[in-house]
Amino acid sequence: MNQFAQLVGRQLAADVRSLPARLRAALSGQARLARCQNIADVRALARRVVPDAVFDFVDGAANDEVTAGRNQSDFAALQLHPRVLVDVEQVDLSTTVLGQPVALPLLGAPTGLTGLIHHRGEAAIARAVQAAGSIYVLSAMASYSIEEIAREAPGPTWFQLYVWRDRGLVRELVGRARAAGHGALVLTVDVPRAAVRERDRRNGFGIPPRLTLRSLGQGMVRPRWSAGFVRHPRMSIANAAGHGGGARDAVSLTEYINSQFDPTLSWHDVAWLREEWSGPLLIKGILHPEDAVQAVSAGVDGVIVSNHGGRQLDHAPSAISALPRVVEAVGGRAEVLLDGGVRRGADVLKALALGARACLVGRPLVYGVGAGGDAGAERALTILRDELSIAMALAGCPAVADVDGGRLVGAPAGAPASLQPTGGPT
Ligand SMILES: Cc1cc2nc3c(=O)[nH]c(=O)nc-3n(C[C@H](O)[C@H](O)[C@H](O)COP(=O)(O)O)c2cc1C
Repeated sequence: MNQFAQLVGRQLAADVRSLPARLRAALSGQARLARCQNIADVRALARRVVPDAVFDFVDGAANDEVTAGRNQSDFAALQLHPRVLVDVEQVDLSTTVLGQPVALPLLGAPTGLTGLIHHRGEAAIARAVQAAGSIYVLSAMASYSIEEIAREAPGPTWFQLYVWRDRGLVRELVGRARAAGHGALVLTVDVPRAAVRERDRRNGFGIPPRLTLRSLGQGMVRPRWSAGFVRHPRMSIANAAGHGGGARDAVSLTEYINSQFDPTLSWHDVAWLREEWSGPLLIKGILHPEDAVQAVSAGVDGVIVSNHGGRQLDHAPSAISALPRVVEAVGGRAEVLLDGGVRRGADVLKALALGARACLVGRPLVYGVGAGGDAGAERALTILRDELSIAMALAGCPAVADVDGGRLVGAPAGAPASLQPTGGPT
């Protein structure tokens, strides 16, 4: 055998010997996450490891899911006009939100029942967001209680409130958020009634999840998720134990919301809450500029332009298309944040350019935790942060303060007029 053949033989033998270890490494959770190049990959991984009904609960939206789709396609329709020959060796993503310093203009959006996708749920996302130097907004409907999150993720947290018919519970939640040191209260106002999420209806999704032959079958082919679910079940609304939605009540989310949430909620209640809570107050779910003006008059410190990720009123405008008019109407009297459809760092840059102080992200982080627990939430956040940093460098913006809307972002000919910028950043 000549020298070359001996070399090839030795290399092949080494490859065969190391094959089992390499296969194990390639199939490990870490490796699968590391192979995710973007949020779409993280979503695809979550879809493979989580039962369909749970994935659909997270991924789905109202009715035809038109608004959910527009949240993303309207971001894609916007163009960035880069400036060149700017020193971008250092890109600084830090800013402040309602006076609180954050290392990047990205907050964790409130998502309820996140423990269904992975037992680490809200705890994993809160830790990832805080480790990145930002703020996690804990949902009133979370599967971890306010006190559990304070232990698991003791960094900066805001509390998102729904208004139950039982005002005693609402007052209690506000008191618990205050005691846990939450830096702001976020009142979500776009759920006067449950929307129809057709995927959930088809799947018979409820709290707790119903065991059917189909769901058992799904669990068997997703052993990692099932083992976590059986060992550490997180399937109830931890903050409102005893108010329905507990582990023993089998109700659909629609039944829960329609029986428990107060559909008479109005600006009077905002005034009441303003009295109850002396810290920063935000309203989440604003799309109309006149509502934004009314929110400012009611004394709120921030408005979150949001259509609930397209999960409430289908055919509502996309968040990014509603942003410019809200920013203009608010006129710097409150901070304007946005959520809905952020899947790329460049989306955050576009929102900042159109006047948002920061963005919240919902599904991307939930896909992350579903795909790989704590490490998955971290991976999703790292992807978005790195993308934002690169987009800012390539656009010629070394710092958030350099993101100048007037020159940076534009809609191509033929795009809806609502996508045209009306002013600079707040
Ligand atoms: C699974 C899930 C649960 C949610 N639960 C809540 C909630 O409890 N309270 C709330 O204000 N918004 C909730 N939202 C909406 C998010 O806060 C946010 O508005 C939305 O996810 C933003 O869109 P994105 O998912 O495209 O980022 C939820 C969203 C998802 C996907």
